[in-house]
Amino acid sequence: MIHRDIEQVLYTEEELRQRVKELGGQITADYAGRMPMLVSVLRGSYIFMADLTRSINLDVTVDFMVVSSYGAGTVSSGQVEIKKDLSDSIEGRDLIIVEDILDSGNTLYYLLDVLKARKPASIRLCTLMDKPERRTKPITADYVGFTIPDAFIVGYGLDYDEKYRNLPYVGVLKPSVYEK
Ligand code: IMP
Ligand code: MG
Repeated sequence: MIHRDIEQVLYTEEELRQRVKELGGQITADYAGRMPMLVSVLRGSYIFMADLTRSINLDVTVDFMVVSSYGAGTVSSGQVEIKKDLSDSIEGRDLIIVEDILDSGNTLYYLLDVLKARKPASIRLCTLMDKPERRTKPITADYVGFTIPDAFIVGYGLDYDEKYRNLPYVGVLKPSVYEK
């Protein structure tokens, strides 16, 4: 039972659905007349990406990237590696980077540099969760689902050691799970 390892439910399925719909509405309004390219940073953002794109009422294209920074720990290593690059060119495109959670900012700080060099028309960041207290790099997101305190959370795509992504809600993981 994966639910047993959850200390507290932070956002229910319904709350997530509602907030993602609002973000989609905001993006629809902001990008009217354009065709943004949504870039999902895998794996954590896969569920958010699926729901977000379906709440945007515009032509969009999607692409995916795999980067890794964490391994099995709960603290970013500061080392970011592109494990799978985008399939399409981003030159001249209006990019929206879709992230699960903005924590230290290491991942996006590095990724933004890489992507800017490929000459997109614009880049904005959309993150489902933001933990500003933990930031060590000067990164802010343009679209934020929820601003949360410093706790390790899982569910709705977010993992601990590759598990718990399939929880339909977002919850705080019991520290006993990773202190073992
Ligand atoms: P950053 O590079 O420290 O900003 O970390 C970004 C990545 O770390 C996110 O995309 C997540 O994959 C992972 N991460 C950070 N905090 C959490 C958390 O509370 N739960 C699960 N994954 C997290
Ligand atoms: Mg992760």
